[in-house]
Amino acid sequence: MAEPLPTCYLNGEYLPFENARISPFDRGFLFGDGAYEVMPVYNGRPFRAAAHCARLTRSLAAIRMEDPHSLAEWRALFAALIEKNGGGDQSVYWQVTRGAERGRNHAPLPVVARTVFAFSAPLALPSPAVRERGVACISAADTRWARCDIKSTALLANVLLRELSVEAHAAETILLRDGHLTEGSSSAVHIVKDGQLRTPEQSQEILPGTTRSVVEELAARAGVVHRAGSVAENELRGADEIWLSSAAREILPVTTLDGAPVGSGQPGPVFRRLYAELQQYKLELAQVPW
Ligand code: PDD
Repeated sequence: MAEPLPTCYLNGEYLPFENARISPFDRGFLFGDGAYEVMPVYNGRPFRAAAHCARLTRSLAAIRMEDPHSLAEWRALFAALIEKNGGGDQSVYWQVTRGAERGRNHAPLPVVARTVFAFSAPLALPSPAVRERGVACISAADTRWARCDIKSTALLANVLLRELSVEAHAAETILLRDGHLTEGSSSAVHIVKDGQLRTPEQSQEILPGTTRSVVEELAARAGVVHRAGSVAENELRGADEIWLSSAAREILPVTTLDGAPVGSGQPGPVFRRLYAELQQYKLELAQVPW
């Protein structure tokens, strides 16, 4: 993510992020006790806001918290934040933590005001040149917890896994658990074999990706067969194409995995097709209110 834009939102107030203050006893700070979202904004218009809000509500429910805001309230918050930060293409981050207590208790106290924080940054999508040549990835064992379907702010394992790819000058660490593909440290992973798109089936091992849902819809629209199902390590390594998808990267072709070329070693035809569909879909959405 690029440097934050000047205005953030904290607990009902819009203010310069330099002036935002939270308690050192905030459970987000002490325990990573919260959930978050990241959403792209194209030309001032949030992309798939309802899906991101639904996933946040779901993440919060899974950690026994009620969403403090309705969809309409979240929308109003995004609109104000985006406008105060000058519109255009942005990436909005927001999180809800269980709030600040007086001291540190593993067991949460029942009535604590939640901490709601949001900021935005210029949307830093991969450059056309990077998308044209594709990116290098490495693989690693998925050392995360058993509820990767929750978009928790507790991301220590993801951070350490991502660091492995930084050290290897690679764009992402693709994760394997018990001999099958799960996802990336901060992205979903798709493969193409014999013209068919495959993505690991939704389970507690992976995040329900919002971009993944878009990819599935666009595949149907483009007549590309998509199947959700387990992807074995040898299928990953033998794939014709591998893509990453996320709110921060849209879809991005992986052209080497652990130093070996993926398929032809070039972004593949199914990627090109779906990427073009995605750009077309964004243009269509720009015509309708969000
Ligand atoms: N991450 N899987 C993981 C582990 C992720 O962190 C993400 C996104 C995804 C893709 O989800 P979506 O398409 O809804 O962005 C899958 C965001 C961008 C982040 O943590 O910054």
